Amino acid sequence: MSNQLEHGPVRTTRADALLACVGERGVLRSFYDDDAGSDLMQDADGVSEAQEMGARIRSASGPVLELAAGTGRLTFPLLALGFEVTALELSTAMVAALRRQLEDEPADLRDRCTVVQGDMSAFVLGRRFGAVVISYGSISLLEDADRRGLYASVREHLEPGGTFLISMADTGGSQSLERDQELSGRSGRRYVLHVRRSPAEAIQDITVYPADDASDPFVVCTSRLRLLEPDQVVRELEQAGFDVREPASFRSAGGSGRHDALLLQASLRSDPS
Ligand SMILES: C[S@@+](CC[C@H](N)C(=O)[O-])C[C@H]1O[C@@H](n2cnc3c(N)ncnc32)[C@H](O)[C@@H]1O
Repeated sequence: MSNQLEHGPVRTTRADALLACVGERGVLRSFYDDDAGSDLMQDADGVSEAQEMGARIRSASGPVLELAAGTGRLTFPLLALGFEVTALELSTAMVAALRRQLEDEPADLRDRCTVVQGDMSAFVLGRRFGAVVISYGSISLLEDADRRGLYASVREHLEPGGTFLISMADTGGSQSLERDQELSGRSGRRYVLHVRRSPAEAIQDITVYPADDASDPFVVCTSRLRLLEPDQVVRELEQAGFDVREPASFRSAGGSGRHDALLLQASLRSDPS
């Protein structure tokens, strides 16, 4: 398993420009830092994405396996929808943060969540699930070989008739290399998300910062992700023995305006030829 794109913080061009403007108030972080980075991840709103996923999971299908759960952006809304969730996450710091947050939840919700430390590209949990879910920010961290490992591991953990759900960013076919979007966090705080795509290098630089220019400290969080298009994931899933439905489009967390996300829904092909 190799995730060299995950390391940060990355000096994105937007981060450089912002930090030059805000002077001493400016702090550059990676999304994966234990302090400000994960504070921002904890504020990220996953309710609408979890609802889209939940609507495609049969409630009688048993626990949901969530891959690369982070600090629970999707885990908590899925639990709030009444699902039992097994949350798999690699990072020790993220696992600890997720467990700490669960401690603050009512027993009914906490008791429906099992947190396991593991690698989404090679895991063995010894049981099958009616649904496996993963978000775009997570699958984009994996290199080609690791995505093949992910699909193979999911195959071994999905019940026949079960559903594998993958959320993806939807650029709406736009070829534009840069986009800005305003988002709200769970706290109600507003953020700007800036995405700069480099198709030649197959990467995208993500920069998230407060919409309020006066914020102090002015925390700029960055990350470099692989540029992974929905079409490519659909092809890979089909090669890995899944049938894939027509993607559903939806509006992501706190997003405004047009639908900006897609949900891929895959199921095991009985004859994976
Ligand atoms: C962008 S965050 C997404 C977290 C959450 N699922 C969400 O959608 O907000 C990606 C998460 O993947 C985790 N991660 C990275 N590589 C992993 C791997 N190979 N297996 C499991 N988790 C991994 C990181 O630690 C991080 O928590």
